Amino acid sequence: MPQLFRPGANTLARLALAAIAIVPAGLLLLIAVVTRSGATTGEGRFVEQPVPFSHQHHAGELAIDCRYCHAGVETAATASVPATHVCMTCHSQIWTNAEMLAPVRASLASGRPMAWRRVNRLPDYVYFDHHAHVNNGVPCAACHGDVRRMPLTRQAAPMTMGWCLDCHRAPGDRIVAADRRFEAAPYQDRSAADRRAARATTIAIARSGRRLTDCSTCHR
Ligand code: HEC
Ligand code: HEC
Ligand code: HEC
Ligand code: HEC
Ligand code: HEC
Repeated sequence: MPQLFRPGANTLARLALAAIAIVPAGLLLLIAVVTRSGATTGEGRFVEQPVPFSHQHHAGELAIDCRYCHAGVETAATASVPATHVCMTCHSQIWTNAEMLAPVRASLASGRPMAWRRVNRLPDYVYFDHHAHVNNGVPCAACHGDVRRMPLTRQAAPMTMGWCLDCHRAPGDRIVAADRRFEAAPYQDRSAADRRAARATTIAIARSGRRLTDCSTCHR
């Protein structure tokens, strides 16, 4: 009997079948990746600012505490960006003539605040609260990454509902001891103090009867 199929054909057919099975799955995966990628969530994005402010320089090399410039994080829903005079406590002494800082000097002279543009932005129908997180041991880095290595501030997380919920379902291992909240890599070398803080917060949430995954937590 003449050979209808070359020996290699079997393998080809198998490959084709496998491809038919895999391609739709691959397509679905691709769609999932595209819809959740940085292009649509803004993850990894940075924006042009009136002055190219560097966290790497100020919070990293100069080691200025986050709270010096973002005074609201422990007391208010919004972290807030620093007022111009905060910059000028130093820049009235150093780099006083730098062209790069001209908008800061103009802002101080005119009394008009700097027009910093938002990097992280939730839709208005979402309620978010900084101090509820920060005071309960969720470190800045959990949501903003290590800004000490950012010459320009980037959006470090997707900031989607799925991303919020992912932590709200089981926040335990994301909670650190109070003195680590502003650290660059707070999840390294998890200590006994971190675990105690995590237990305390988990118990407090359970006792309060709140469920962090209820719609009304974030949509009020
Ligand atoms: C010397 C002042 C200063 C210090 C210190 C500082 N920041 Fe900032 N931060 C700013 C300014 C100015 C902006 C607005 C410009 C920008 O987005 O880069 C900003 C913006 C940000 C943003 C983006 C805000 C938005 O629009 O979404 C985050 C997040 C942030 N800072 C986190 C931190 C963290 C975490 C620390 C501590 C590790 C820190 N900052 C320390 C001045 C500071
Ligand atoms: C649980 C996640 C989370 C943590 C922890 C967190 N942030 Fe944010 N941050 C956000 C989100 C979400 C926004 C955008 C809020 C909005 O659009 O309403 C934001 C916005 C900001 C802004 C812009 C101004 C504002 O308040 O909207 C700054 C500055 C900022 N964060 C700094 C910090 C610093 C500093 C820390 C640590 C002390 C910190 N954040 C901890 C999620 C977080
Ligand atoms: C605690 C002091 C201090 C504060 C507060 C401070 N800076 Fe600076 N800044 C410095 C020093 C020091 C340099 C580095 C000068 C050099 O490189 O020799 C610098 C450099 C800069 C530069 C030059 C580019 C760079 O990063 O090297 C810019 C732009 C700048 N600062 C903007 C700001 C703005 C905007 C604020 C307020 C949000 C601010 N700074 C607050 C100390 C400070
Ligand atoms: C890394 C973990 C983590 C992430 C990410 C996170 N949260 Fe939370 N969130 C918590 C924890 C823990 C609490 C409970 C704090 C406490 O003990 O009250 C909380 C509490 C809250 C509360 C309740 C505050 C109150 O008034 O009781 C709101 C609102 C909230 N989160 C909104 C958000 C939103 C919106 C996002 C996403 C943009 C987000 N969270 C992302 C951990 C997280
Ligand atoms: C932990 C905070 C959190 C909780 C809990 C939460 N959401 Fe959201 N939700 C968000 C955030 C953040 C966004 C905006 C970002 C996005 O579209 O992913 C959002 C967006 C939405 C949107 C708009 C989606 C779109 O594509 O425009 C709807 C509808 C919604 N939520 C419904 C719900 C419902 C229903 C529940 C309860 C089952 C719920 N959410 C619980 C944080 C939360």
